[in-house]
Parts: sequence; structure tokens; C-alpha cells
Amino acid sequence: MSSPKTALVTGGAGFIGSHLVDRLLSLGYRVAVVDDLSTGRLRNLNPAAVLYLADISQTSIHGVLQQERPSLVFHLAAQISVSYSTRDPIRDAECNVLGALRLLEAARACGVSKVIYSSTGGVLYGEPEVIPCPETHPIAPLSPYATSKYLFEQYLMMYRRLHGLNYTILRYGNVYGPRQDPHGEAGVVAIFTQAMLEDKETHIFGDGDQEKDFVYVGDVVDANIRAIDRGDGDVFNIGTGSGTTVNRVFDLLKGLTGYPHSAQYGPPRAGDVYRISLECSKARRQLGWTPQTKVEEGLRHTVEYFRNHCDATLQN
Ligand SMILES: NC(=O)c1ccc[n+]([C@@H]2O[C@H](COP(=O)([O-])OP(=O)(O)OC[C@H]3O[C@@H](n4cnc5c(N)ncnc54)[C@H](O)[C@@H]3O)[C@@H](O)[C@H]2O)c1
Repeated sequence: MSSPKTALVTGGAGFIGSHLVDRLLSLGYRVAVVDDLSTGRLRNLNPAAVLYLADISQTSIHGVLQQERPSLVFHLAAQISVSYSTRDPIRDAECNVLGALRLLEAARACGVSKVIYSSTGGVLYGEPEVIPCPETHPIAPLSPYATSKYLFEQYLMMYRRLHGLNYTILRYGNVYGPRQDPHGEAGVVAIFTQAMLEDKETHIFGDGDQEKDFVYVGDVVDANIRAIDRGDGDVFNIGTGSGTTVNRVFDLLKGLTGYPHSAQYGPPRAGDVYRISLECSKARRQLGWTPQTKVEEGLRHTVEYFRNHCDATLQN
């Protein structure tokens, strides 16, 4: 019997990464994870995965790839906060550009056959001129985070031209679901859910009518799996194609949790996009991917998870 293929998942202890690790293991992959646990949590990580506790911006990443010789790299490790990136654009780029580039160099040197990159569709296009917004829309980042995520897309494209290293880029909408960090600055669903279950104040930045494309984490994992042998050298929006306002998400969660209070409204945050949804017909045609989870159903799963893991999410 041949030995299982190895997949390396950077950011595998994080929200999306940990679900991806579970799926890869269930498909029979040997899974290695590189994570510095800056926002990821050990409790998220499947114990069947091998964890390298390391920062991708350090040279040690090369040794990990030499040791593991993965055929696939799923790159998810990132500084993910838009507002943090506006406060510290240098640290953002150190992780999202330089760290990612170190990984890419190691991948090239160690014969990786494909890199599947978790990029963003939610903030890359700026305020889109067309909704739902296709992949061909002009790129107009409004934050250092959006810029750094896009720069790495460009590195991937160049490495394919220069070195023949294959890739697929997946540009997500607003991903939500179980295991999302309710203590971070991103992830409105997790933040609202946790606050509502603890009967704490909830805050909406801006008027709440801003519209985002909320896509369930299970659907995002599915897109990654489909990209293993499809979508070579290409870029795909991964969303639902329709927007949901933050006020609507608030109301749905209020109903699901029985939260009795109204939200507190504050000023909008710098770098936020007001209205976006992603046109995803390319992913349907070329990856055979369509989102399966309606927002009401996804929110229900999320609330159920937070109810059952309340103690764990309270620990930081
Ligand atoms: N959640 C979303 O809505 C969304 C939307 C678009 C794109 N993305 C992208 O998806 C990826 C995963 O995001 P997430 O929501 O799961 O976030 P997350 O914070 O839960 O996961 C990121 C993981 O990377 C790790 N990490 C961060 N910096 C690192 C470093 N320098 N070295 C090693 N590990 C490091 C963290 O500890 C964490 O486990 C990111 O690349 C993000 O840009 C997420």
C-alpha cells in the first residue's frame, strides 16, 4: 500500500484551517500544521495532525517543509484583522507578505506541487462598482490587510511563471461558523453570538446596513478540497452571491439566542467595505463548487456550537 500524501496547512489551528485539517484527515491525508497560535487555539486542532509551533515569518519554515515534503500546501496563516493592519501595516506585511514569501520559497525548494491560498474577496475590490462583484473587477484595496493579501496573490502568479509552481487562489467573502474567535476584531457572527449568550452589550460599527457576503466555513473547506485537482493557476470568488446586512445578522442571532437587548451603534471603522457580495459562477463552472449552507442554517449551527462550547470560548 502506498503511503498517504502529506498536506501542509499553515494556520491549521485557526478557525478555517482547523476545519480544513479535519476534512483532509478524513480524506486520508497525513496533515502537518504550521501555526504560531497567535490567534489559533490548540483545542481546535485535530490531535491526528502534526503541529509545528512556528511563525511563518521565521526561517524555520524551510526545515518544516524539508522534513515533511508535502505535495500540497494550504496557506491560511495570516494577520487577519483589517483594523490592526491600519494601525500596524508593517507587522501586517511582515506576516502576510514576507512570511508568506518565505513559505513560498520553501515550497519551491522542496518540490511542492500546488499551493492553495486563502485570499479575500470581501475587501480586495474596495467598494465594488458591480454587485455581485466578479473576479475581473478592478482591485482597489482600502486597507493594508487587503493590499498584503493581494500582493501574495501576485507572488503566486509570478512563481508559476518563473518556477512552474502551481496554485489556486480562493477569495472568500465573510466566513463564519463554529470555532471562529469571538474575542478578535474580525468575525461579527462569532462576536455577536458570544456576547448574546453571555448577555453582554453588542456593538455595531456604522449604521448596520452595510452588506457582506456571509459564507459558511463548511462550504469554504469544500472549495479548498475541490481546488486540490482543479482550478490550476486561477482565482475564484468563494461566497454566496448575495449580501446580508449586519442588522439582519444581528436580528437572526437575536432570535436564535433569545437575546433581549438592542445593539449599540458606533462610528464606522476605517478600511471597512460598505456593500459587497461575490459573483461565484466561475467557481461553479470550474471547481464544481456551490455553497450549500443558507445563512439561517449556518447561523443555527454556529449558535449551537457556541452554546455547547461556552466554557472553551471563554478561555483565551
Ligand atoms: N474569516 C474570514 O472571514 C476570512 C475572509 C477572507 C479571507 N480569510 C483568510 O483565511 C485565512 C484564515 O483565516 P481565519 O478566519 O481562519 O483566521 P484565524 O486567525 O482563525 O486563523 C489564522 C491562523 O494563522 C495563525 N497565524 C497567524 N500568524 C501566523 C504566523 N506568522 N505564523 C504561523 N501561524 C500564524 C494563527 O494562530 C491562526 O491559527 C486567513 O489567511 C485570512 O486572511 C478569512
